[in-house]
Amino acid sequence: MAKPIPGPTPLPFIGNMMDLDITNSIRDFGLLSDTYGPIYKLRLGGEDRIIITSQKLVNDVCCREIFKKYPQGFIKQLRAMVPDGLFTAYPDQESWGIAHRVLLPAFGPVAIRKMFPEMVDITTQLILKWARFGPEHQINVPADFTRLTVDTIALCAMDTRLNSFYSETLPLFVDSFIAMLTEAQLRSSRPSWYSACLWQSNQKFDENNRIVHEIARKVLAKRRANPTNKNDLVDAMLHGIDPVTGKGLADETIIDNMITFLIAGHETTSGLLSFLFALVLTHPEVYRKLQEEIDGVLCHDTITPNHLQQLPYTKACLREALRLQPPSGVWTVTPIVKDPAVPILLDGQYEVKSGQTILIVNPKLHRDPEVWGDDAEEFRPERMISENFQKLPKNCFKPFGNGPRSCIGSDFAMQEAMIATALLFQKLEFQLVDPNYKLSIRQALTLKPHDFFIHARLRPNVN
Ligand code: HEM
Repeated sequence: MAKPIPGPTPLPFIGNMMDLDITNSIRDFGLLSDTYGPIYKLRLGGEDRIIITSQKLVNDVCCREIFKKYPQGFIKQLRAMVPDGLFTAYPDQESWGIAHRVLLPAFGPVAIRKMFPEMVDITTQLILKWARFGPEHQINVPADFTRLTVDTIALCAMDTRLNSFYSETLPLFVDSFIAMLTEAQLRSSRPSWYSACLWQSNQKFDENNRIVHEIARKVLAKRRANPTNKNDLVDAMLHGIDPVTGKGLADETIIDNMITFLIAGHETTSGLLSFLFALVLTHPEVYRKLQEEIDGVLCHDTITPNHLQQLPYTKACLREALRLQPPSGVWTVTPIVKDPAVPILLDGQYEVKSGQTILIVNPKLHRDPEVWGDDAEEFRPERMISENFQKLPKNCFKPFGNGPRSCIGSDFAMQEAMIATALLFQKLEFQLVDPNYKLSIRQALTLKPHDFFIHARLRPNVN
C-alpha cells in the first residue's frame, strides 16, 4: 500500500497559495521541506504538485524510461514566445528531436573550444571596463556579468556584437526579451483568467515578441545572404540535417532557438559568476588558494585552452558555487505511464501519477545532509575536486538538469565561466564594497545575489 504524501492542508479554491511567497518560491520550497520532509504535496493552480528535495528521491525521477521533462509554470508561459525552442518544447515535439540531434555536435567539446578566442575577447572588454573605472567605482556585479554573458552568447552563437559594455542601457533586443521573460514569470504566478484581463501587459508582451522575432529574422536573413565559414550555432542550424529524419530545421525553429540560446545562455551563467564572486570574496582562504592556482598556471601568459585543464581548484570553486547557489532553482518532470495497472512509486512507497508535476528543488537537493554531510551549508571547494566529485552518489548534483533534456549549453557555460574567472583574477584584485556583506538572494528569472557590489583594481606587476 502506497504511503500518503504529506503536506500543508489546502484551503478551498486557493489551495496552498498562502503557504508560499510566489516571489520567493524557491526559498519557501526549501523551508516547507524542513517541516514536511523530502517529499511533500502542494495544491497550486488547482493541481497537486509533488515537491522533492533528497538525492534518494531525485535519483528515482532521473530514470529516463519512467520520467520525462514536463514543461510547467514559467517554461510553459515561455511557449507563447518560443514554442519551437529546445528549452520550451514538449517531450514529443518533432522539432525538439531534430534540433537536439542537429545541435549536439555544435555544443560538443571541439566546437566549444573553437569559441575560446571570442569568449576571451568579451572578457577582456570587461577587464578594461573595470580597470578604467578605477578602484573607487562600485561595480554592480550581476549587472556586468549579465553584459558579459549576453555579449558572449550573441557573438559565439550568431556572430553578432551587442556591445553591452559601451552603453548604460542594454540593447533593444535584450531589453525586449527581458521584459517578456518578466511578464512570463508573472503570468506563471497568476491565474490564467486574470492574466487574460491585463490587456496592456499583453499588448506590451506581443509588441516585444514582435521586436525580438523581427531582429532574429533579420540576423538570419543577413546570414543567408552572406554565408560565412564560421561554423557557429546559426550555421549548424542553417545547414544541419538530422540523421534520423533526414530533415533540416524550419526557419521558425531556427529563430526560436536563437532566442532560446540568448535567454538560456545568459541569465544562468551570469548568476553562476555572480555567486562565485560573492562566495569567494566572503571566504578569504578560498580567495587566496584560487589566486595562487591562477597565478601559478597563468602567470603573465596569454590564456590558452590548455591552461583551463590545469586549474582544478578553479573548476572546483565553480562547481561548489553551482552546488550551493544553483542559478536554475527548479526543474519539473512527470511519470510516463506504460501500464496503468502498475503504480509508479518514489522511494518504493509514494505513488505518483502521469500528468502530475514533480518539482525538483536544486538548492535543497544540493544540501542533502545524507550526501554532503554536516557541513553541507559551507562553501568548501575541496569537496568538488575531481577525485572527490567522482565519488559522489548518482544524481546528487543537478545544476544542469537531467537526461536528454539537460542543459545542452553546460560545456559552453563552464568554459565561459572558467575563462572569465581565470582572466579576472589574473588581472584584477577585488574587494567587497560592504566588508560585512552577507549573501542574500534575489529570485527573478533565475537566482542571483542581491545588492552585491565590489571594487576592482589592476594588480601590480601583471600588466
Ligand atoms: C536546459 C541550467 C547555461 C541552453 C537547462 C536546464 C537547466 C539548465 C537546469 C534543464 C531545464 C529543464 O529541465 O527544464 C543551466 C545553467 C547554466 C546554463 C545552470 C549556466 C551556469 C546554458 C547556456 C546555454 C544553455 C550557456 C546556451 C548556450 C540551454 C538549452 C536548454 C537548457 C537550449 C534546453 C535543452 C533541451 O531541453 O533540449 N539549462 N544552463 N544553457 N539550457 Fe542551460
